[in-house]
Amino acid sequence: MALEAKNYDHLLGGNAKGLSDLQLKAHFTLYGGYVKKLNEIRERLATADRSAPNYSYNEFSELKRREPVAYNGTVLHELYFENLGDGSTQPNDVTKAAINAGFGSFENWVADSKAIMASGHGWLMTVYDPITKGLVNNFIKSEHDHGLFVGATPVIVLDVWEHAYFADYQTKKADYATNVLAGLNWDKIAARIAALPK
Ligand SMILES: [Fe+2]
Repeated sequence: MALEAKNYDHLLGGNAKGLSDLQLKAHFTLYGGYVKKLNEIRERLATADRSAPNYSYNEFSELKRREPVAYNGTVLHELYFENLGDGSTQPNDVTKAAINAGFGSFENWVADSKAIMASGHGWLMTVYDPITKGLVNNFIKSEHDHGLFVGATPVIVLDVWEHAYFADYQTKKADYATNVLAGLNWDKIAARIAALPK
């Protein structure tokens, strides 16, 4: 079944702190491209010849290698757009307690998150780690499928690829980090934390 790109137009008009309509619309288009490619890859996989898989090159092997890029590119963008906000929400007590338990303080989480965002392009994710049973930061670098913690559940997701901020900030990535962290939709994040394993 073909997937459809979700609509995030509610973020336009200043509802995603620090991000212009120009920036967001370009990003929505890019996200739609991942959805389209995921559909294309899966359509081709349905009939791909499985008789000669190969490490160097084979159509089936390459489709399977690239499928996680399109899949994660789709899902990570949805998690990102869902947790953007205008800065009007605040972390509730449960969220504050979870962040404090994982990072020592809210300020430590902000500092760790900003340091990761400055470390390269990719994704910053604050995830629930089932081993420590708490929140940790996970940096997905290079491609959408490199570096994911197995079994981790995303709670906060921020896009740190250039296309996420360049129209508005050019090389001032730190300003993007400051604004997007200050504008998070803490109601959405609280719902994700409430759904974590107890
Ligand atoms: Fe992106």
